[in-house]
Amino acid sequence: MPRAGDRGAARARWLGTGLLGLFLLPVSLSLEVSVGKATTISAVNGTEILLPCTFSSCFGFEDLRFWWSYNSSDTFKILIDGTVKNEKSDPKVKLKEDDRITLEGTTKEKMNNISILLRNLEFSDTGKYTCHVKNPKENNLQHQATIFLQVVDKLEEVDNTVTLIILAVVGGVIGLLIFILLVKKFVAFIIKKTQEKKKECLVSSSGNDNTENGLPGSKAEEKAPTKV
Ligand SMILES: *[C@@H]1O[C@H](CO)[C@@H](O)[C@H](O)[C@H]1NC(C)=O
Ligand SMILES: *[C@@H]1O[C@H](CO)[C@@H](O)[C@H](O)[C@H]1NC(C)=O
Ligand SMILES: *[C@@H]1O[C@H](CO)[C@@H](O)[C@H](O)[C@H]1NC(C)=O
Repeated sequence: MPRAGDRGAARARWLGTGLLGLFLLPVSLSLEVSVGKATTISAVNGTEILLPCTFSSCFGFEDLRFWWSYNSSDTFKILIDGTVKNEKSDPKVKLKEDDRITLEGTTKEKMNNISILLRNLEFSDTGKYTCHVKNPKENNLQHQATIFLQVVDKLEEVDNTVTLIILAVVGGVIGLLIFILLVKKFVAFIIKKTQEKKKECLVSSSGNDNTENGLPGSKAEEKAPTKV
């Protein structure tokens, strides 16, 4: 009797582990979409900019769908839409909103790169660009990553200026501290030298060795006359 119960418990445990595995699998091995480290990009009008996007899928993919959307305060549009048949093929573009946009990169050789290049940038191109990927092999899970593009008339090196100012201030403060330390040391040195000289004078004039207590001149001065 207790044996049957044990077997039942073991089976239940197996079942539990299996279910847990099924539950965890899509979470730990799911599709990931990345636009790289910089989530904000600035570019100058009239130039071109690459908006990076890569994805990874541990399951592999088949008939994967991808698209880029654009969203600003007053507009939402799909910029480019396409599919990738499998891991050995390059993406096929099905829809393209603008001639200034081209799909760059490759999905062959595990590059999984679906970056787009935007040319002849206009100020109105400023906005949020989202790269979406949907993998039918993974329950049609959809993943996305967003990058903010700001079109400017010239790149201001604000960050550099700020860094330089901070560096200059920090450098200045450190320099000042070192200078103060040096001055202090120098002054202490001068004082010591003067006192040593004074002491020497006192010692030689009194003809008495009172350096043993290491006291500065003032005390020695008091003592000296009594002995002379
Ligand atoms: C960028 O915009 C500025 C200001 O509107 C303009 O003077 C300049 O010619 C533009 N640059 C290009 C390359 O279009
Ligand atoms: C576009 O962005 C706005 C503001 O961030 C947001 O409220 C809106 O839901 C977005 N639209 C779409 C379709 O994603
Ligand atoms: C994606 O492809 C573009 C164009 O070939 C390239 O410049 C970029 O470095 C690639 N990105 C990655 C992460 O490989």
